[in-house]
Amino acid sequence: MSAAPTRAFNSLVTRSWSRLARVYNIPLVQRIAYRPPQDEIIEQLRRADIRRVADIGCGTGILTSRIQHELNPEVVYGCDASVGMLRQAKARSGQVNWINRRAEDTGLPDAAVDAVVSTHAFHFFDHPAALAEFHRILSPGGLLAIALNNPRSRFAQLLQPTPIQSVAYFPSPDEMRSLVEAAGFRITAQRSVRRPIPSALVPDVLTVARRI
Ligand SMILES: C[S@@+](CC[C@H](N)C(=O)[O-])C[C@H]1O[C@@H](n2cnc3c(N)ncnc32)[C@H](O)[C@@H]1O
Repeated sequence: MSAAPTRAFNSLVTRSWSRLARVYNIPLVQRIAYRPPQDEIIEQLRRADIRRVADIGCGTGILTSRIQHELNPEVVYGCDASVGMLRQAKARSGQVNWINRRAEDTGLPDAAVDAVVSTHAFHFFDHPAALAEFHRILSPGGLLAIALNNPRSRFAQLLQPTPIQSVAYFPSPDEMRSLVEAAGFRITAQRSVRRPIPSALVPDVLTVARRI
């Protein structure tokens, strides 16, 4: 058992995702909620010209497999703590290295990757522990790109009532900057994810940084 810290009830959270795995891939859900940040991350990776990528909290592996197919890097890892979500991911691609581990303790070697990406999962992680792990597994100068909801929007405030903050917490864009910088990264960009629907409905923000 790993000694890395986790957010409260994280095993319960990841077991629940195992049960949700079958409905997660519904095309409308994917199109509205998950595809836009994935498009932006693919674009960031394309511009950075990276060789080794890890998608952390990869869920059913949609972004991870897209990275493999569309960018064809040397190595792609998809890491998730939910067995059920990873089962779906494994069926999607045999070329990705799927890892059933937690974000805070991926088991990857030091400097194993040139990019760490994560979409709609960071709020479930222990933030300092996960960022320390991302810093450890990234090579110097490596790219970090994280998309998550902006808690300042009214919609996200519904998702973040005080009692569940120990289970899932969405840092504001300013909090994200502070957390990422404190973990040894330099922020290079931060902006709202572009969407075909009003951003108030799914108000996610992409934070991009480089490992110092
Ligand atoms: C909303 S899904 C997002 C999946 C994927 N990134 C996407 O955009 O489609 C959140 C995922 O985070 C995973 N997760 C939650 N806590 C985790 C942890 N501590 N380490 C790794 N994965 C975790 C869950 O199992 C779930 O698959």
